Amino acid sequence: MSAAWPRSRGKRVLLVIAILVALLIAASVGSWLWFKLNPVEIVEPPPGVLALLTQPIPDGPIADLVRRGRYLTIAGDCMSCHTRAGGQPFAGGLGLQTPFGTIYSSNITGDGDYGIGGWTPAQFYRVLHDGRSKTLGRLYPAMPYPHFTVVSRADSDAMLAFLKSVPAEHYNPPANRLPFPLDIRLVMIGWNLLNFSPHGFKADPRQSAEWNRGAYLVRGPGHCGACHTQKTVLGAEKSDKALQGAVIENRFAPDLTGNPRTGLGRWSAADIFEYLRTGRNQHAGAVGQMAEVVTYSTSLLSDADLNAIVTYLKSLPASPDTASGAPSAAAMRAGHAIFFDACTACHLVEAKGQPRMFPPLGGSAVAQQRDPTGLIGLILGGGRTAPTLARPSFQTMPSFAWKLDDQQIADVASYVRNSWGNRASPVSAKQVATIRSKLDLRQPLGRGD
Ligand code: HEC
Ligand code: HEC
Ligand code: HEC
Repeated sequence: MSAAWPRSRGKRVLLVIAILVALLIAASVGSWLWFKLNPVEIVEPPPGVLALLTQPIPDGPIADLVRRGRYLTIAGDCMSCHTRAGGQPFAGGLGLQTPFGTIYSSNITGDGDYGIGGWTPAQFYRVLHDGRSKTLGRLYPAMPYPHFTVVSRADSDAMLAFLKSVPAEHYNPPANRLPFPLDIRLVMIGWNLLNFSPHGFKADPRQSAEWNRGAYLVRGPGHCGACHTQKTVLGAEKSDKALQGAVIENRFAPDLTGNPRTGLGRWSAADIFEYLRTGRNQHAGAVGQMAEVVTYSTSLLSDADLNAIVTYLKSLPASPDTASGAPSAAAMRAGHAIFFDACTACHLVEAKGQPRMFPPLGGSAVAQQRDPTGLIGLILGGGRTAPTLARPSFQTMPSFAWKLDDQQIADVASYVRNSWGNRASPVSAKQVATIRSKLDLRQPLGRGD
C-alpha cells in the first residue's frame, strides 16, 4: 500500500471505518443526486435564448470552431440547466431541487471572475471528462459528467470556444444548500469510486457510421439515459435496463426501446424524427422535462444527427413485457364515466384524439409505463407541449388536481391504462395521494380552462 496507509492497527481500523462511512454517504447521495429536477416548466423560451442558439455567427478567425461549439452545446442541452429565469443564457444559478437541498448550476459564460473566462481547454475538458472543476472541485452528478465523459477533446475545445464567445454575465450563482456532510465535495470520491470511471466513446465496428454517431449523441452529449434509464440504489444507471424508462421528478421518462406497448415499437422512424424536431407527432406531444430537451436541443439538431439518433433508438431491443394485473370492473365503470366528463372534450370519444393537437390515447406509451407515476403526474399537474421553431405555439393538458379526488384520478388512470387495446397495472388512490403530496400545485397549469 502507499505511504498514506497507517502503520498502527487501530488507525487502520479507523481509516477503514471512515472509508465505509464515506461510501455509505455516497450511496445515499447517489440515490437522489442523479435526478435532474427542473423547477421551471417552459412556457416560452426566455427572449434571446433561441436567438443565441440560432442566429448566424459572423465570420472571423475562429468562427468555424465557435459554430461547431455552439452546435455541440445544443446537442448537450447545456442551456436548460445553465440558464435561470431572467438571467443571461449560460450564466447559471438555476436551482436543481433535490429532497435534501438545492444544487445551483454554474456560470459558464466567459466572465473572468465567476464564469469560465480564464479557463484553459484542459481545465474545461476535465469537467466534462472527469467531473472535476478548477474552482469547485469534485462536481455532483446533477451535472451529467458520467455521460459527458465520452465527449471527445476536440468537441470539448469547441464548446469552450463558443461559451467564451457568448455575452458574459458578472454573476455569482448562490452556494449550494446541502446539509452536512453532503456539502463536502470529497463525498463524491466515494460516489465516483463506486459508480464512475472516466472513459471515451468506443465505436462498435459491426454497426454503421450512422448508428455509431447516434450512439455517441444519445450516450454522450444528449445524456438521454440521465432521465430514461433506471438507477441503482447508488444512483448509477442500470446498464442492463438502458433507456427502458425511469421515474423522474413525479413524471416518467418512458421506455425508448422497441417495446410496442411501453416503448417506441409502434412509432416509425419518421414519427420519432418528427417528435424530436417539432415536439409533436401523431402519437404524442413532449411535455415537462422533455419539452425543454426538445426546445433547446433536439429540435435544433441537423437532419443527419436526428436520423442517427433515430437509427440508434430503433436498434434497441424491446424491453421485457411486464404488464401485470387488471383493474376491477367497478374501477373501469367509474373510470369510464370520469373520462367521458373530463377528458373527451380534447381526446374525443374512444380517445381517438386529434393528431398533433390532442394525442390519441389508445396505444399511448406514456399511459402504459410499468410505473404509473408519469400518468398520475400528468393528470394531477397537467402539461404544456414544447414550443419549437416548427411549432411555435403550445398545446395544454389542464391540471385536474382541483377537479378530481385521489380515487377518481386512480379510476380514470386505470381506465386509460386498460382501454382501447391498452394494458397496464391498475392505479390505486394511495399512489395518487403520494404523488399529490409531492407536487407543488400552487401555480396551476391550464389557467383559464
Ligand atoms: C442536468 C443539468 C445540467 C446539464 C444538462 C449541464 N450541466 Fe453543467 N452543471 C450543472 C450543475 C448543477 C453544475 C454544478 C455542480 C456542482 O455544484 O457540483 C454544473 C457545473 C458545470 C461546470 C463547472 C463550472 C465551474 O465553475 O466549476 C461546467 C464547466 C459545466 N457545468 C458545463 C456544462 C456544459 C458544457 C454542458 C453541456 C454540454 C452542461 N454543463 C450541461 C448542471 C448541468
Ligand atoms: C431531463 C430529462 C430527459 C432527458 C435528458 C431526455 N428525456 Fe426524453 N423524455 C423525458 C420525459 C419526462 C418524457 C415524457 C414526456 C411526456 O410525458 O410528454 C420523455 C419523452 C421522450 C420521448 C417520447 C416517448 C413517448 O412514448 O411518448 C422520446 C422519443 C424521448 N423522450 C427521447 C429522448 C431522447 C432521444 C433523449 C436524448 C437526446 C431524451 N429523450 C432525453 C425526459 C427526458
Ligand atoms: C384541454 C384539453 C385536454 C383535456 C381536457 C385533457 N387532455 Fe390529456 N392531453 C392534452 C394535450 C394537449 C396533450 C399533449 C401533451 C402531452 O402529451 O402531455 C395530452 C396528453 C395526454 C396524455 C399523454 C399521451 C401521450 O402518449 O403523450 C394522456 C395519457 C392524457 N392526456 C390523458 C388525459 C386524461 C385522462 C384526461 C381527463 C382526466 C385528459 N387527458 C384531459 C389535452 C387535454
